[in-house]
Amino acid sequence: MKRIGVLTSGGDASGMNAAIRSVVRYAVHNKLEVTGICRGYAGLVNEELKIFDHRSVSNIINRGGTILKTARCPEFLTEEGQARAVSAIKNNKIDGLVLIGGDGTYRGGIALSKKWSIPCIGLPATIDNDINGTDSTIGSDTAVNTALEAIDKIRDTATSMERIFVVEVMGRESGFIALQVAIGGGAEDVLLPEKKIDMHEICHQIVEGNIRGKVSWIIIVAEGSGRAQDIADKITDMTSLETRVVVLGHVQRGGAPTSRDRILATRFGAEAIDLLMKGESSKAVGIVSDNINIVDLEFAVSKKELRVDSLYNLIKILT
Ligand code: ADP
Ligand code: F6P
Repeated sequence: MKRIGVLTSGGDASGMNAAIRSVVRYAVHNKLEVTGICRGYAGLVNEELKIFDHRSVSNIINRGGTILKTARCPEFLTEEGQARAVSAIKNNKIDGLVLIGGDGTYRGGIALSKKWSIPCIGLPATIDNDINGTDSTIGSDTAVNTALEAIDKIRDTATSMERIFVVEVMGRESGFIALQVAIGGGAEDVLLPEKKIDMHEICHQIVEGNIRGKVSWIIIVAEGSGRAQDIADKITDMTSLETRVVVLGHVQRGGAPTSRDRILATRFGAEAIDLLMKGESSKAVGIVSDNINIVDLEFAVSKKELRVDSLYNLIKILT
């Protein structure tokens, strides 16, 4: 292993820069050359590459987004696209890749390592926290804290004006962010893709609460369980109470990474280089109970079961 390549791909996540920094500096420390690949797999297909050294990653540990840019690249799903990417890898004498992204990025890594024999190590970076073999993905803690900050502000106005707010958070098919912010933000209810939605029960509780004098509510909706606007419309139809809707959207993807995400990204980056130097491939780095955990990329992309019951029940009890 003389030269490695590093890319960020799919949806950006805060802490990707901290991971790039760690990969580059740990590799340079181990006398490896580093090529930065721009715009994920698109940068491989179109040979958008930059030579990186120690200084190329100065002052980025605290920055959201990714200095390498990121993209979704439909061309890489095709045989021809992958062949072009492999030519770029060979032409530029890249001996192994560090792929920073979510499950789509990992599927690209499976193709490159299994079909084209390119050594690949994946680092999980997505706000959705939907990767198997790791308790946390880079960016998920920052996203939760960003959403929480917004929800705290919504609570001020909800309480003052005695209103029902329905707040939609991201997470694709996963209820991770919703569950975390619901518990951390003291939400009155949460709708998760992992749980069956019972609008009658939700509305019954709101009406009952109203009778007891409880007039302000924050209901968190994971985007994977429906649109906040639809839920709010149903609540108004069924209770005749006014609602307000907030869709937090892409703010959850930006901002300076939390200390947790920076530390995670830094540990993961160094581990990826160690694995490549040991001749490993098609592996994903993760963390379980604060210990580094290595799994096959195939396992990492298999459906992650989010265990929601204990926190979900607590939310119901504490409402
Ligand atoms: P994320 O990595 O955040 O889940 P995507 O699902 O958008 O993001 O995937 C990022 C990119 O990974 C895609 O645009 C595509 O280039 C590549 N990719 C996704 N799935 C596959 C696959 N099955 N085979 C090869 N490449 C894939
Ligand atoms: O996977 C990260 C994520 O932010 C999801 O939570 C969300 O569903 C999706 O990406 C949004 O994608 P886009 O940036 O293409 O709008």
